[in-house]
Amino acid sequence: MATIAEPVLSFTRLPHPAPVADEVREGILAAPGFGTQFTDHMVVIEWTEGKGWHDATIGPRGPIPLDPAASVLHYAQEIFEGLKAYKHADGSIALFRPQANAQRFNASATRLAMPELPEDVFVEAVRQLVLADQSWIPGQEGASLYLRPFMIATEPFLGVRSAKQYKFIVIASPAGNYFKSGAPAVSIWVSEYTRAAPGGTGAAKCGGNYAASLVPTAEAFARGHDQVLFLDAAEHKWVEELGGMNLFFAFEDGSLLTPPLSGTILPGITRASLIELAREEGLTIREERYSIDQWREDAASGKLLETFACGTAAVVTPVGRVASPDGTSFTIGSGGPGQTTAKLKDRLVAIQRGQMADTHGWVMKIA
Ligand code: PLP
Ligand code: COI
Repeated sequence: MATIAEPVLSFTRLPHPAPVADEVREGILAAPGFGTQFTDHMVVIEWTEGKGWHDATIGPRGPIPLDPAASVLHYAQEIFEGLKAYKHADGSIALFRPQANAQRFNASATRLAMPELPEDVFVEAVRQLVLADQSWIPGQEGASLYLRPFMIATEPFLGVRSAKQYKFIVIASPAGNYFKSGAPAVSIWVSEYTRAAPGGTGAAKCGGNYAASLVPTAEAFARGHDQVLFLDAAEHKWVEELGGMNLFFAFEDGSLLTPPLSGTILPGITRASLIELAREEGLTIREERYSIDQWREDAASGKLLETFACGTAAVVTPVGRVASPDGTSFTIGSGGPGQTTAKLKDRLVAIQRGQMADTHGWVMKIA
């Protein structure tokens, strides 16, 4: 089990005048959905050039004062993370691989010319918020507390250069199934737009990547699909990832393929965890390029048995159908969940929820 480092910043606790009433919170936790309900508190830490990180507070969640000239509003200097806190059956609370999120946050910060946040401060900020809002963690299967650490450039300055002031903030949102439909498998729309090009920001978790995905995502929703698929920018041929998830393909020969970390896709922590779990299950992992044409062909021939999407929000979700703007579509396997997907999902979720031994040191108990 991972250990918790001593915090290097001390957090000032600001009193909350009016937290959400118990009965209202219980009603929200019974059916949390995704991303629409928020807890009582937030963490804020300031960064100023020459001074570094300072003034860490944990207080009531609410609007943040922002100058209209703040760089984030003009040049989109913004990065974020997503991770979850789980309530275990013994009453303890656990985070899943928070250090991995801290490391990726700093990789994103570097790409966006923003200051790094010490990993132990990132983890401590998340821990403080979860402890303050522990009554907001839903206990039922499939539900957890989704944590959203992010950083914005707050300096009022219109010249184009990296800002000299930032805010790091953590908010939390009780979460159930990411997909509203709750269908056993999701349907995917192949985007004609590109998410990320070589040398761009595709491997960073920055808001701008998601802004670029919203038109194709709206197209997907308008046609009744659940997620958008991006192909590579140069040849528009190689499968990269979904709007907010990585992809895996399970073949009849016992191999599991996932697109390589080429610099244009997000290095998912769920992706990395599933690769380890799949190896332990005896599957052959292939981090290889896979074309949309090959995908269609393998689905038709039966060589490809399953496809699934994975991510913190989506966990592990089977992909049943793929539709393209040229009017063609294809179904994978039975169009529903398959065995490999179910096995890997069960193992991952059991570790996250404390129902299976954590032999990898992924689970950090915080209370
Ligand atoms: N790819 C994109 C574009 C994402 O937004 C996410 C979600 O965070 C992922 C992949 C999966 O990453 P992780 O497993 O770390 O949540
Ligand atoms: C996450 O899984 O944490 C994400 O940021 C993806 C998004 C679709 C919510």
